[in-house]
Amino acid sequence: MGFLRNLSTFLLLLAPISEAVSIPRASIPSTDYDALVVGGGPSGLSALSGLARVRRKTLLLDSAEYRNGETRHMHDVIGNDGTVPAVFRYNARELIAKYPTAFMKNATVTSIVSVNGTNGTYFLTTDAAGETYTSRKVILATGLSDIIPDTPGVKEAWQRGIYWCPWCDGYEHRDQPFGILGSILDCVGSTMEMETLNKDIIAFVNGTYTDENVAILDKKRPGWFTQLQRYGVAIENRTIMSIERVQDGAVVHDVATDTEFDQFVVHVADGTTFNRSAFITNYPSVQHSHLGAPLGVKIYGEKMDVDPASMRTAAPGVFAVGDANSDNSTNVPHAMFTGKKAAVFLHVELEKEYAATLLSKRDESLIEERMGSELEDLWKRLSKS
Ligand SMILES: Cc1cc2nc3c(=O)[nH]c(=O)nc-3n(C[C@H](O)[C@H](O)[C@H](O)COP(=O)(O)OP(=O)(O)OC[C@H]3O[C@@H](n4cnc5c(N)ncnc54)[C@H](O)[C@@H]3O)c2cc1C
Ligand SMILES: *[C@@H]1O[C@H](CO)[C@@H](O)[C@H](O)[C@H]1NC(C)=O
Ligand SMILES: *[C@@H]1O[C@H](CO)[C@@H](O)[C@H](O)[C@H]1NC(C)=O
Ligand SMILES: *[C@@H]1O[C@H](CO)[C@@H](O)[C@H](O)[C@H]1NC(C)=O
Ligand SMILES: *[C@@H]1O[C@H](CO)[C@@H](O)[C@H](O)[C@H]1NC(C)=O
Ligand SMILES: *[C@@H]1O[C@H](CO)[C@@H](O)[C@H](O)[C@H]1NC(C)=O
Ligand SMILES: *[C@@H]1O[C@H](CO)[C@@H](O)[C@H](O)[C@H]1NC(C)=O
Ligand SMILES: *[C@@H]1O[C@H](CO)[C@@H](O)[C@H](O)[C@H]1NC(C)=O
Repeated sequence: MGFLRNLSTFLLLLAPISEAVSIPRASIPSTDYDALVVGGGPSGLSALSGLARVRRKTLLLDSAEYRNGETRHMHDVIGNDGTVPAVFRYNARELIAKYPTAFMKNATVTSIVSVNGTNGTYFLTTDAAGETYTSRKVILATGLSDIIPDTPGVKEAWQRGIYWCPWCDGYEHRDQPFGILGSILDCVGSTMEMETLNKDIIAFVNGTYTDENVAILDKKRPGWFTQLQRYGVAIENRTIMSIERVQDGAVVHDVATDTEFDQFVVHVADGTTFNRSAFITNYPSVQHSHLGAPLGVKIYGEKMDVDPASMRTAAPGVFAVGDANSDNSTNVPHAMFTGKKAAVFLHVELEKEYAATLLSKRDESLIEERMGSELEDLWKRLSKS
């Protein structure tokens, strides 16, 4: 009801715009929030912080299924190297919560619509409980989900010994017997990422050592086989039946040297076994939620397309940040950086819409000119500081 009343007020107020007179502030649509952020990982929290500090009324809705939700510790986030991710997010929420215009709620967003005719200035968001929220702008910070195979033991150890990136957990498993999981197409890249950390490497390519894939590799990475041989990487092609954990690095670890002693036995099709201490994976990831496409966000591969200068998507008023966007960087510092960047551009976009109401129609081009360059100046200043 509130939504309909607000919308009709807004639409009525649009009517006199053709007059060359000052337009009162009230022509800004009246919404529950200036901005709505979907997702409470580091990108969404960072966006919320950036908006709350300039007193934008912002709601963050989060379904709390974080990409690194199962990992023991977060690494390579300066000042927070080794912090438990849940503690990191808790601390962030505690500090953000002191700002009177920051609001956070546990909820799963099921739909967002850009109300017709409002060109990215009025959104209606609905959550799984049927609650609705209106906002002038939207930030999608919804993250990615990893597709982990059903092979027994893999999901169980995912993020705890079977890990995803060298920077995430590599150092804690340095110099240990190591495995690479996933297609043979990715094992040269993984070897190159890992060789400064581990030398005893087996690539468990699980039946992907086919003529077809060899032809692809010969073309894409000439000399790949020789390189693998000289790196000392063994290729194991038999189907993986299970990866059995025999020791948990969460229990057996050495705090003094930052070492985790996980132990696994890999069972392959004919009963042969291999002892390994850790693995890196090459499995696909997908959008955690698909809220962007119905709004008009362009999707490239599995990412929401953005202008990396501003984190704007093709849908007016909609920004996409963190792992889910198309600049393809997937780590916590990047998530925080992109959340922050969207907050700056969103803040100025809102102000630009307001500033336009202070002028006659004729003068509006001035706003476009001035605010356009001010936005860039602001970001340049921020990037330098
Ligand atoms: C195993 C593993 C270990 C990692 N370790 C590190 C590390 O050590 N250091 C590092 O820098 N990076 C690490 N990463 C990467 C890091 O986890 C991501 O880069 C980071 O979490 C991205 O933040 P984000 O805010 O984009 O997404 P996320 O942290 O995934 O947060 C997205 C949030 O959006 C919510 N959401 C999605 N859809 C909806 C919806 N419809 N309604 C409401 N909420 C929704 C989700 O529930 C989730 O809470 C690791 C990744 C993995 C997989
Ligand atoms: C959100 O859910 C978490 C548990 O998943 C709970 O600890 C927290 O208090 C909830 N927050 C709100 C605002 O309800
Ligand atoms: C919005 O407008 C389009 C045509 O521009 C129409 O197809 C669509 O049904 C409208 N949606 C709503 C919710 O009114
Ligand atoms: C191994 O390959 C099989 C058959 O393609 C597949 O079902 C399974 O998920 C793969 N396992 C791993 C660990 O990659
Ligand atoms: C690897 O396994 C696949 C599937 O079983 C098989 O088709 C292929 O010939 C094997 N490759 C080699 C080099 O043995
Ligand atoms: C492999 O691991 C198993 C189970 O922990 C252990 O019994 C065995 O001795 C190990 N083999 C080697 C060669 O280390
Ligand atoms: C990111 O990856 C997608 C494929 O998922 C690709 O289409 C896009 O061009 C990449 N973006 C950049 C900036 O490299
Ligand atoms: C809609 O908004 C965008 C900016 O987000 C602007 O470039 C475009 O001209 C607007 N379209 C209309 C019809 O006002």
